[in-house]
Amino acid sequence: MSRFRKDPDPRFWRLNRSIEFDWRLAPYDIDQSQAHARGLCAIGVLDDDELAKIDTGLEQVRARMGAHGFQFDDSDEDIHMAIERLLGEEIGPLAGKLHTGRSRNDQVATDVAMVVQVHSLQAIELAGATMERLLELAERHRDWPMPGYTHLQRAQPVYLGHHLLAYFWMLARDVLRFQFALDSASVMPLGSGALAGVNWEIDRRAVADDLGFEHVSPNSIDGASNRDFVLDYLAAASTCAMHLSRFGSEIVIWSSSEFGFCELDESFSSGSSIMPQKKNPDSAELLRAKSPRVGASYAALLGTMHALPLTYGKDMQEDKEPLFDAIDTVELCLEATEGMLEGIEFDRERLEEASGDEVLAATEVADLLVRKGVPFREAHGIVGGLVRDALAQGKALSELTPEELQKSSEHLDDSFYDLLKRDSWLESKRIEGGTGSEALANQIAFAHETLGAVKERVRDERDS
Ligand code: ARG
Repeated sequence: MSRFRKDPDPRFWRLNRSIEFDWRLAPYDIDQSQAHARGLCAIGVLDDDELAKIDTGLEQVRARMGAHGFQFDDSDEDIHMAIERLLGEEIGPLAGKLHTGRSRNDQVATDVAMVVQVHSLQAIELAGATMERLLELAERHRDWPMPGYTHLQRAQPVYLGHHLLAYFWMLARDVLRFQFALDSASVMPLGSGALAGVNWEIDRRAVADDLGFEHVSPNSIDGASNRDFVLDYLAAASTCAMHLSRFGSEIVIWSSSEFGFCELDESFSSGSSIMPQKKNPDSAELLRAKSPRVGASYAALLGTMHALPLTYGKDMQEDKEPLFDAIDTVELCLEATEGMLEGIEFDRERLEEASGDEVLAATEVADLLVRKGVPFREAHGIVGGLVRDALAQGKALSELTPEELQKSSEHLDDSFYDLLKRDSWLESKRIEGGTGSEALANQIAFAHETLGAVKERVRDERDS
C-alpha cells in the first residue's frame, strides 16, 4: 500500500477482490488468528494483556460479522484484511501486532485447509447416513427379485437388496476418499510465511495442536504453494457426486410408467404446471444433473494450479469458488439422497414380472451344458440359437419342444425345463459377492461392519 501513490483502478479492484466469496473463511480465520496470537504470546511477542485484548477483540469481530445487517466495507479486499480492519476498530493499533510472523499466503492456505478438514468429515458423516438408509432398504428387499441390466437391457435377475447395496459400496469408497482428503488437509501450512518461513520461532507444533492439525508442513515453499488438499477434496466430491448421479438416473428410469419399479415420495417429486396427472422425479433428475459441476470444479482448480510456478500466485485465490460450490453441491446431494431413500417405495410385482423373463436364464442354460462337458463358448452359441428359435416362433424358452432341444444339443434334456424356474437362477449365484441369498446375507453382515466403522470414525473425529 505504502509504495503506491495511485489507488487501484476500479476494474482491477473488482478483478482482485475476493471478499464476495472468501467471507466464508471468516470463522476459520478468526480461530486461526486466536491460535496464532497464543503462539506469539508463548514466545513473548505479545504479553498476556495484549493476547487477552486481541482474543476478545476477535470475538467482538466474530459477533459483529454474525449480526443481522452486517456489511463489509467497499475498501475490504479480502476476508483477512477485513478482519484486521474490524479488529483495529475494536482494539486500536494493537491489532497491527497480530500479523507478526505471518503472511496472508500461509494464512489463507491454513484457512482453506481447515475448511477442507471440516467438510471432509461432514461428507463422511452424510455419506454414512445415506449408507445406513441403503442398508435398511437392502435388508427389507433382500429377497425381491428384479432384472439386472447391462446396456440397459435385461441381463440376469438379481435381488433388489443386492442392487441397492452396490450403491452402499460406492459410498463406502467415497468415505475412504474423503478420509484421504481429511488427512491431506491435516498438515498445517502456518509458519511458512510468504514462502521462506518466518523470522519468529513460533512453536508451530503447539499452534497446530491448538487448531486441530495433525502435522506441520515440513517445507515452507511447499506449505505456501500447496493446494493438493483442495484437489483431493474435489476429486473425492466429484466421484461421490458421479455415484449419486447414477443412482438418480436409475430412479428416473425406474419410476417411469414403462418400468414402474419404484415411486418416490411426494415430498421429493414435483407436479406439472399443465398436466395434472404428472408426478415427476425432479429430485432424481437433479442428482443426475448436479454431478458434472462438481467434476468441473475439480477440472477448474487443476487448471489453475497447472504449471503454476512456486510459490504463491494470485491465481491461487481462484481455489475458493470451486471448493465452496463443490461443498455445497455434494452435501446437498447427499442429504437429498438420504431423504429420497427414506420415502421410496418399490413395486414387488412389477420387479418380479420383469425378472421372470425366461431369456434371463440364458447364462444358466449355457452353464447347464458346461456341466455336461460342453465348452462354454460352444454352449454360448447353442443357447444363442435356442433364444433365436424361440423368438422367431414367438415362444418362451420353456415352450420349446424336447425335439427342438435335442436338435440344438443332445445334452438338452428335462433338466432344461427345471432350470427355467427363476429362483434357481438367483440362488445359483452362491459365490462370494454374488446375489444368492446366503452370499447376500454375508454381504449384509459385512456392510453392517463397514457402516459401524464409518460411524465410529465420525464419532472419534468429532470428539477429538
Ligand atoms: N485473498 C488472497 C487469496 O485468497 C489472500 C492471499 C493474498 N496473498 C498475497 N500475497 N496477495 O489467495
